[in-house]
Amino acid sequence: MTSPSLEIAVLGGTGAEGSGIALRLAKAGHRVWIGSRDAEKAAGVCTELGALVPGAVLRPATYRDAAAAASVVILTVPYAAQQAVVQDVRPALSGKILVDATVPLVPPKVARVQLPEGDSAVAAIQQLLGDEVRVVAAFQNVSAHHLRDLDHTPECDVLVCGNDVEARTVVIGLAKDMGLRGVHAGVIENAAAVEALTSVLIAINKRYKVAGAGIRITGLPDDI
Ligand SMILES: NC(=O)c1ccc[n+]([C@@H]2O[C@H](COP(=O)([O-])OP(=O)(O)OC[C@H]3O[C@@H](n4cnc5c(N)ncnc54)[C@H](OP(=O)(O)O)[C@@H]3O)[C@@H](O)[C@H]2O)c1
Repeated sequence: MTSPSLEIAVLGGTGAEGSGIALRLAKAGHRVWIGSRDAEKAAGVCTELGALVPGAVLRPATYRDAAAAASVVILTVPYAAQQAVVQDVRPALSGKILVDATVPLVPPKVARVQLPEGDSAVAAIQQLLGDEVRVVAAFQNVSAHHLRDLDHTPECDVLVCGNDVEARTVVIGLAKDMGLRGVHAGVIENAAAVEALTSVLIAINKRYKVAGAGIRITGLPDDI
């Protein structure tokens, strides 16, 4: 593990993307809270993921309890639920890093870029929460399918956007723990481009009949 072992909440950890992130973080030795609206569902996911990585520390919790217990809170809920979940856990977020993987997809046309007013869904969350929470956008372009397959090293960089360089660096460390390369990608407003890229990747997935096309930044030194 490259970063110290952390208490990490994954809100939406029962879902496709959240469970994949939780699995890889738990495998790396982090203590992971699976946040859910449904205690039984969260407990089931903890059992399921725990069977894949024996010895991993995975615990079920409500969104609020998970956020309160963690120093890093990861949000992996559908765009339609993003703001409500953030408002629900807001009292527990002060002084913490909120990693938001939300992509503002508008079903059914998810392969078409349809950014919200103000462009970035994650930048809107930073505006909502103010300076007391360091919001970092990450994992928008990493397919859940690949995250859940521990035998697969995803050929996809994690573009990490946020206004606080130290918070971005923490998230890049977590990405490395998950077997992924994180890349500093600038301020939180830049998340608009990352969010848009997901629809581009979905279009590529459809055209080439693959489960998880990814992106790779070229021209960087090997040791970043
Ligand atoms: N799937 C991917 O490959 C992928 C890749 C990159 C980014 N993302 C982004 O990650 C987020 C989650 O995507 P997903 O595919 O993992 O979705 P998902 O499988 O539907 O899971 C999302 C989780 O969010 C919770 N949730 C659903 N509706 C909610 C509501 N109204 N209020 C509160 N919580 C709710 C559910 O947990 P409980 O029922 O346990 O509460 C659910 O398990 C999305 O923003 C998506 O754009 C997904």
